[in-house]
Amino acid sequence: MALPIFRTKPVEHVDTGLKKCLSAFDLTLLGIGAIIGTGIFVLTGIAAANQAGPAVVLSFVISGIACVFAALAYSELAATVGGCGSAYGYSYVAFGEVVAWIIGWILLLEYSVSVAAVANGWSGYFNNALTAMGMGLPEALTKSPELGGIINLPAAGIILILMGLLIIGVKQSAQLNTAMVFVKLLTIAIFLGIAAFNVNPSNWHPFMPYGWFDTLPDGKTIGVLAGASLVFFAYIGFDAVSTAVEEAKNPQRDVPIGIIASLGFCTVIYIAVSGLLTGIVPYTDLNVSSPVAHALQLLGYNWASALVATGVIAGLTTVMLVLYYGLTRIIFAMSRDGLISPFFAELDAKTQTPIRVIVLCGILMALGAGFFPLGALAELVNIGTLASFVLVCLGVIVLRIRQPHLHRPFKNPLNPLFPALGMLSCGALMTFLPETTWIRFIVWLVIGLIVYFTYSIRHSKLAQ
Ligand code: ALA
Repeated sequence: MALPIFRTKPVEHVDTGLKKCLSAFDLTLLGIGAIIGTGIFVLTGIAAANQAGPAVVLSFVISGIACVFAALAYSELAATVGGCGSAYGYSYVAFGEVVAWIIGWILLLEYSVSVAAVANGWSGYFNNALTAMGMGLPEALTKSPELGGIINLPAAGIILILMGLLIIGVKQSAQLNTAMVFVKLLTIAIFLGIAAFNVNPSNWHPFMPYGWFDTLPDGKTIGVLAGASLVFFAYIGFDAVSTAVEEAKNPQRDVPIGIIASLGFCTVIYIAVSGLLTGIVPYTDLNVSSPVAHALQLLGYNWASALVATGVIAGLTTVMLVLYYGLTRIIFAMSRDGLISPFFAELDAKTQTPIRVIVLCGILMALGAGFFPLGALAELVNIGTLASFVLVCLGVIVLRIRQPHLHRPFKNPLNPLFPALGMLSCGALMTFLPETTWIRFIVWLVIGLIVYFTYSIRHSKLAQ
């Protein structure tokens, strides 16, 4: 008999009671909602100024290619295995419980820290907007204690508002998401329209001031590849579409469409935005918290700069909304399997949403975002997400061997080449991240294993 830690779940499409109401269009917008955010609006400038120069556009291309392979793997597994636990659920079927647990544990880190980190960025933009209207909050209420304040109130507040929205229902959340996605796309269109006519090609020289890759004495990494592993954050989110499988009307067809369409669309936008951004101002001017708005200001387009700031506020809201949503569905799945207390697997009879998980996550993330400066943790999120992408790609190969006859409504082309390239490219991006990120990541994994061996292994549904 196999060791309990390697017990696997069969592929079963059970009806879990979540409400099925999302179309392919909703799912694509959900993806775009989660994808376009801090990455393009904030990190592009930082990566251009400190790591890649104008060649940040290549960083986006490289990261985008790695994500395309991962997206194809996600699509195959979402259509074949299904389940709102996303990579966690696929690993349970392909590799067995302990790997599934580790992935689930990593996803908890990915989604919760992303939401709290993006809430920090959101708070900055929101407070700037209030200040511009003469209603700025006192500094003590916009910063966490470590940065000299009392609480980052807007960051905590927006998470609690989203909590209320997710409790009301997924369709309502998706509708609000749609409206805000259009606002953010409109602002990007305005930026592209203005930038296209203001390029000064001399800004693209030198194109690659920091080379491909280097590690500085203080442990920081620079170069196009280091930039790629940082701006990878911009692509995170398409994977969240796969957590909506159980709420999709026609999941086997629509979830792959949602994943691939949202990623493809955003990749094109990122390449255009990053290419033009470094063309309109020198990359050295972009080391600010709102590089896109800042660049427009430098060109003298103050009205457009204000509009872009509004779009960013809408954009970051949707990122938090969708990632928060994904987080609750993953915990819901883990709880249903017994690896986390079954207390969280209860659905509210009226709204058909897992209210307990939503409230618990909301409160914890609001506290995290309110009291800790989590804005700087993008790299930690990246390493975890990349690790889960590597395993999802491997999962495609393993399942094709272990269960060749499964019905696969969507298949990776050229298996095992494509998934293998996904593993290679995502694994490579992990190696370009700084050492401190690796240490934090390993600490998180060790804590996860302790929880698994003290609680989950005994309470797993498969143990009973
Ligand atoms: N991709 C998301 C962002 O850029 C997480 O904010």
